[in-house]
Amino acid sequence: THVVTEACIRCKYTDCVTVCPVDCFHEGPNFLAIDPDECIDCTLCVSECPVDAIFRDVDLPDGMEKYPELNARLARRWPVIIQKKPALPDAEQWRHVRDKRQYLDT
Ligand code: F3S
Repeated sequence: THVVTEACIRCKYTDCVTVCPVDCFHEGPNFLAIDPDECIDCTLCVSECPVDAIFRDVDLPDGMEKYPELNARLARRWPVIIQKKPALPDAEQWRHVRDKRQYLDT
């Protein structure tokens, strides 16, 4: 499966959802989560994300080890999103900030 990681937090550009052939993205307040039971590893979303937040689970950057479980858990609770919407208002300010896990709203 593919996994949304920390760079998405407080940005939520949503470009990723427009290309997903299986509608596996779920929307929370300031992050999206991929349902691992739906993702078919097509990889189309990876290059759509302007902050490179999406990785295959076997290829996660250091420090992102908790995100597969987080995506699975949040995807169960959050509704599916299939249409792009405007990024969060402060997305440009947050896109280069690191260590954003503390800001994740669930
Ligand atoms: Fe997040 Fe990137 Fe999608 S910022 S909402 S994973 S396009």
